[in-house]
Amino acid sequence: MRHKIIAGNWKMHKTTAEAVELINEIRAALSGDFAADVVVCPTFTALYTASSALKDSGIKLGAQNMFWKDKGAYTGQISSSMLKDVGAEYVILGHSEARGRFGVPEPDFTPEILSYFGESDSTINRKTIAALTAGLVPIVCVGETIDERNAGVTDRVVEEQLTVALETIPSEETCKIVFAYEPVWAIGTGEVCDADEADRVCGVIRSTVAKLFDSATGETVRIQYGGSVKPNNAADLLSRPNIDGALVGGASLSASDFAAIVMAA
Ligand code: 13P
Repeated sequence: MRHKIIAGNWKMHKTTAEAVELINEIRAALSGDFAADVVVCPTFTALYTASSALKDSGIKLGAQNMFWKDKGAYTGQISSSMLKDVGAEYVILGHSEARGRFGVPEPDFTPEILSYFGESDSTINRKTIAALTAGLVPIVCVGETIDERNAGVTDRVVEEQLTVALETIPSEETCKIVFAYEPVWAIGTGEVCDADEADRVCGVIRSTVAKLFDSATGETVRIQYGGSVKPNNAADLLSRPNIDGALVGGASLSASDFAAIVMAA
């Protein structure tokens, strides 16, 4: 039986003081009474303060990205050991926004600017290996754009993203990874993926992992759905056999909404 996991991706929101306020509100809303694994992922600048605010809450801390090198001349990058140092246990990798793929069009982002977001399946592979080596749990995101969905290549896109992201990683390490199916067109748009379809693609992720490794690994990995998860659709999504949790964006910035999604799990 796979344990449900709900993670809040706060994206580029909240100062340190606001992060502590939100954590205190989430703690009060959950009152220590939840069965799922719960993770919050603030910005880098709020991680240290968030870590102490989360003390003894049972809620875990995650980061939104990292670099794969441990140290060196990499201006602006953050390593796995730095994340561990501030108390993070999880790290989101390969988010579509870090790949320069946005659900809501960004009118001032030209194709040239988008290409500089720079995340690829190969960099995600290196980051996943580095996170696992450091003892962080990677939340590896995959998902198709609306153009890819309309072209009927959703399953192929997801399979390719997974195949490269998991290169050279042994099955016992893969079992520790949390995967997130995040259709790009459902992120921040309010247009949630139909629960049957979300479950089907999460099933494709599971069978791809089984094909790359073995059926036991496929059955072990936890797979979240992300993209416009709200209190009113969470229970339906979370009741599906292949959906083991949610990666929540906008609704994770409201303590009552986030708590309601945790309770739905
Ligand atoms: P929304 O819940 O705001 O659609 O964002 C989902 C997401 O990108 C989580 O990583």
